[in-house]
Amino acid sequence: MITKLRLENWKTHKDSELEFDKGTNVLIGKMGSGKTSVIEAICYALFGTFPALNRKEVSIEEVILSKPYEEDNASLTLEFRYGKSNYSVNRKILKKKTNQATLYENGRLIAGPQVTEVNKKIEDILKINYEIFSRAIFSEQNQIDYFLKLSPQQRKQSFDEMLALDRYERVRAGAVKVRNKMKILLALKKDSLARLLESFDEKELKEILKKLEETKERLGSINSEISQKEKIVKEFDIKIKELEKIRVLFENSRRKQIEYSTKLDTLQQEIAGFTAAKYEVSEIKKEIEKLEKEIEKINDAKSEINSLKALIEDKTKRKISLDKVILSIKSKNPLGVNEKDIEEKILGLNKKIKDLEELIDGSAEDIEKLEEKRSKNKEEIGCVCERINNHKKEHDNLKGLHAKCPICKQAVDETLKKNLSKENEACISKEEKVLDGLKGELGELEKKIELTRTEEKEQRKLFETLNKEIQALEGSKKDIQMLLENEKQAELLKKDICNLNEKQEKASKLIAKEDISEKKKEIEKNTEILRKIEKSETAEKIKKDLKGIESQLKEIKYDRDEEIEIRAIFEREKETIRSLGKELETKTEWINEAGKRKISIESMEKNIGELKRGIENIEKSNEKIAIFTNTLIETQNSLRTLLIETINDAMGDLWWRIYPYKDYSSLKIDISEGDYVLMIKTPTKWQRIEGLLSGGERSAAALTIRLAFSLVLASNLSWLILDEPTHNLDRMTISRLSLLMREHMPTLIEQIFLITHDSEMENAASSKVYFLERNKDEEGITKPIVQDVE
Ligand SMILES: Nc1ncnc2c1ncn2[C@@H]1O[C@H](COP(=O)(O)OP(=O)(O)O)[C@@H](O)[C@H]1O
Ligand SMILES: [Mg+2]
Repeated sequence: MITKLRLENWKTHKDSELEFDKGTNVLIGKMGSGKTSVIEAICYALFGTFPALNRKEVSIEEVILSKPYEEDNASLTLEFRYGKSNYSVNRKILKKKTNQATLYENGRLIAGPQVTEVNKKIEDILKINYEIFSRAIFSEQNQIDYFLKLSPQQRKQSFDEMLALDRYERVRAGAVKVRNKMKILLALKKDSLARLLESFDEKELKEILKKLEETKERLGSINSEISQKEKIVKEFDIKIKELEKIRVLFENSRRKQIEYSTKLDTLQQEIAGFTAAKYEVSEIKKEIEKLEKEIEKINDAKSEINSLKALIEDKTKRKISLDKVILSIKSKNPLGVNEKDIEEKILGLNKKIKDLEELIDGSAEDIEKLEEKRSKNKEEIGCVCERINNHKKEHDNLKGLHAKCPICKQAVDETLKKNLSKENEACISKEEKVLDGLKGELGELEKKIELTRTEEKEQRKLFETLNKEIQALEGSKKDIQMLLENEKQAELLKKDICNLNEKQEKASKLIAKEDISEKKKEIEKNTEILRKIEKSETAEKIKKDLKGIESQLKEIKYDRDEEIEIRAIFEREKETIRSLGKELETKTEWINEAGKRKISIESMEKNIGELKRGIENIEKSNEKIAIFTNTLIETQNSLRTLLIETINDAMGDLWWRIYPYKDYSSLKIDISEGDYVLMIKTPTKWQRIEGLLSGGERSAAALTIRLAFSLVLASNLSWLILDEPTHNLDRMTISRLSLLMREHMPTLIEQIFLITHDSEMENAASSKVYFLERNKDEEGITKPIVQDVE
């Protein structure tokens, strides 16, 4: 039971608090006074939504009070009792922020502040969700005839959902799905089985097993045969190896025998007719040695002669070149002047040079003195010329108008002028005489200097000629010395050459009689004898060896035919072993393959068994599912019939209480071919209501259905909310309805909320009546005024 609702800033409600009681509570007011808002608030407080919001006709922020001024949040608090507990739910709606909700049970917080948590909790407590609430409990304004407006098919769906019959439908669909899947599985299994049976042959396994045993037996006998043969082969192998050794020995001796006899043959041919016994080896060797020494001596002498020849040649060459030098020196000095004469001449010339040097020195001194005098003379001439110039300047001065005394610088008169001029002129003529004398002296001096210089030049020329003469004499002196030396050496060479020639002649005489080639031939002859002696000895030795080999050959017992025969037997046995091995291999391979085949046949057998069992199981399950779905359909049908019957019962009871006329006596839902058809009873028969009833009659029928549903479906909650149910009803029916609401319904439903603008419906209240007042012209807020009903 809902006990209290507080609305803050919720649409037109600034702050309204409404208390409710058992029985029929009525909210009366003009349109727009905020009646529906109260019901929407109850719905929102419980489920977090209401029909207009659910259909997105409004947003939640739009419920916050906006007239006459704007608020930024709204709040709802709903108190209700359910079972033995008191609950209080609060919801806060905030602009542009997350909304919040809290739920208290007996003053203890049990959910929140998360909105979804609170929604879930309330659904759990009331055992009803928004869908059922909005259809079975809450009849919206203008939606009372909702069920009438649906098509029979939609109606069936909607009813089935409300009656929770759709669950059976879902389970059945699930079962059918499983059955279909099983059918596919069954077909697959049957197919696999058929294919397996096709390739399965019971006889094959028996045959394979028999053949396997036989082959294994044969394998055993092959193995023993092979080991026997291998023993024989081993023995023969040893025998062959022994024979091989003997053969090698025999062949080696034979080869040696042949080799030695051919060697002996050639040796004997080489020494045919030669008798070694005639010769003594040591003497022959001595003879050879002697001959070799003689050849060596001759060769030595020859090489000495050669070196002497070279020496003579060299010395002769040197003597010839010396003779040439001597000749050339002699040609320079044909008169044969000797060294002493030259030395005396040099001495005389040296004396002359000394004298000449003194003369040159004297001349140089004279020149110096004369030049000194000349420069002094030139100086004096310069002084006199200056003096003369000065006198001439004074003279000119005196000739001028304002002449002054040259000493006192006073102006002079004419007489003084004349005297001074005369004096001046006398001085000039005296100086000019002196100048003439000096010039004459200068001329003399120049002549003397010229003369002395020519003398000095001639003396120096002479000096040079004398020096050259001395140099030439010194050269001649050296030549004479060299000539003497060369002549001495030429003499020595001549003597040497003479000696060497003598020596050479002696050596030549010594070897003139000797003949080297003869001696060499002799040596060769002796060496050949020695070689033959050696060969005779070798031939003797080979003869002895041959005898040894021959006796050895006689001792070796080797039979070629025996070896060939033994080898043939050995190869034959080996071949047998090889072919037995091959048979062994193929037989073993076959056993492997047969083993595999055996396993696969066995597993096929196993699979066939499993498949057969699987098919059996599926077929059984299928039967069970068929039974299950049939049962489901039956259960669903009987449940549906039961529920509809109950609803029909309720409608039968309600109809005559609401509808005041006798033309239609009852109302029911008919289930025909799965559709839910609404039927009404005319005096003669049941008829479909579509197209038959007037607007008011339809409303009465719709209301009856609504009331019946809430009685049957929400029996645990026992709530009913009707928003403007009187639409289309005539006055008589309205008064019937208000009576029903006040008298009969409270005995069936614990709490009813009735919203109306019709003042007649005030009589429907069995508990609280709220008059909602609001000045719509001034966009005022809602003022609820309560009135208790007695
Ligand atoms: N957020 C809001 N703030 C103020 N007034 C609102 C708001 N939303 C709707 N209304 C006003 O509420 C009135 C409708 O309230 P309602 O409960 O449906 O009236 P009625 O009594 O006819 O059922 C309108 O007049 C509408 O202008
Ligand atoms: Mg309304």
